Amino acid sequence: MEETVSHEAMSLLGQLRSGPESVEPYPIYAKLRDLGPLLRMTVGTYLATDAPTCREVLRRPEWTVPTPQWKDVNRPAWRTHPSLIAAGKTLMQHNPPMHTLQRGAIGRYFKPGALDELESVIQEIADRRLAELAEQIAVKRRADYAALVAHLVPMEVLCRLLGLPDDVDALVQASRNYRYAMELWPGRGQLLEADISADAVAAYLTVALGERSRCPATDVLGDLLTFENSERVPSAALDLATTVLVAGWETTAAMLNSMLLGLSRYPEQAAWLRGHPGALPDACAELIRWDPPIQMASRVAARDTVLAGVSIPAGRAVIALIGSAEHDPREVQEPGSLDFTRPARRSLAFGVGMHYCLGAHLAQLEARIMLRALLRRLPNLKVAGPAIRQRGIVFRSLRSLPVELA
Ligand code: HEM
Repeated sequence: MEETVSHEAMSLLGQLRSGPESVEPYPIYAKLRDLGPLLRMTVGTYLATDAPTCREVLRRPEWTVPTPQWKDVNRPAWRTHPSLIAAGKTLMQHNPPMHTLQRGAIGRYFKPGALDELESVIQEIADRRLAELAEQIAVKRRADYAALVAHLVPMEVLCRLLGLPDDVDALVQASRNYRYAMELWPGRGQLLEADISADAVAAYLTVALGERSRCPATDVLGDLLTFENSERVPSAALDLATTVLVAGWETTAAMLNSMLLGLSRYPEQAAWLRGHPGALPDACAELIRWDPPIQMASRVAARDTVLAGVSIPAGRAVIALIGSAEHDPREVQEPGSLDFTRPARRSLAFGVGMHYCLGAHLAQLEARIMLRALLRRLPNLKVAGPAIRQRGIVFRSLRSLPVELA
């Protein structure tokens, strides 16, 4: 039998969506988990609140990402927004067979071996951006870590990976509001901002791809053009380059900001890590668990199915609350604390199943390099005022993070 609508869950989700930007999601998730593993909202949508239920949704093939046909029925305005159309053509919003084809075309650039060459590039970018931050602090006593480091490092890495001109500031500006196209139930104003962003990113990439087709090169963009032509998938190069920018920037920027918040809030953990450098990879995993950059992912039932003991008809949507799953006390003791000595577990922060994060190795590499650089180069860096969050509940993004040297 289908569950009845949980008005309490609706009200809690409402607090998360409409509260001030500073509202902490984790206490709200705890209340949602107390209501049950699967909660029915209005408009045929469910919330999966605990780790096992989220894992099931993301792993099982009958839970697909929303198809254009589903969106035509359930989100009819989507075709009027360039940002929703562009986001709909990214890898994360494709189902097989197109998903399999496109993931195959781009996957090899993100395997651990393929990223070896990028390691020294990332190191140089991290060192340079942290040096610029330190210079600014020396002059003004304070600086904005989000603006000078967390937003710029991942974008510069992606430019180098794709072979794009290093127009990092302009690309950060252009991409800033793309997030709203991936937001849960975005407002019209947010979508208009996302549309401007999507047009700017598309214009930038179209110029870069045009140059590449005039002067063919065997780099990532060149390969994507070859894939587009040989497989005859219209606009595949643009869509895959957009995928990398959209999926790889906001998430990694959010991770780098949370990293500094975590180190600043738990100085004893930072001190422990300095004495245990071998624990760096586990510490990165714990930082990403503690504050997952992507807090939720949506799926639709492709056929009648059962989830957490509840019968769900085909066409119903479910939102897997990844942020809640990573704070599920049945899997993680005292989940709200940052603890670099935690035993490893099957995390959901990079997803699971077919859409498992393509950039997970790259993100982990960037995390390790930045964490090591922060501990070594700026051990006294600390948060010097309230972090300003971006509006939205899907990404844990910050607009600014003031820092100073203790
Ligand atoms: C800490 C940083 C990151 C986190 C936490 C993260 C998290 C995730 C999650 C949870 C998903 C699954 C979404 C779903 O199931 O609907 C995902 C998918 C994806 N991520 Fe990441 N991501 C990060 C960084 C990156 C980077 C750096 C890149 C690439 C440059 C990237 C590229 C992708 C792509 C292409 C997908 C879609 C894969 C598919 O649909 O097959 N991500 N990511």
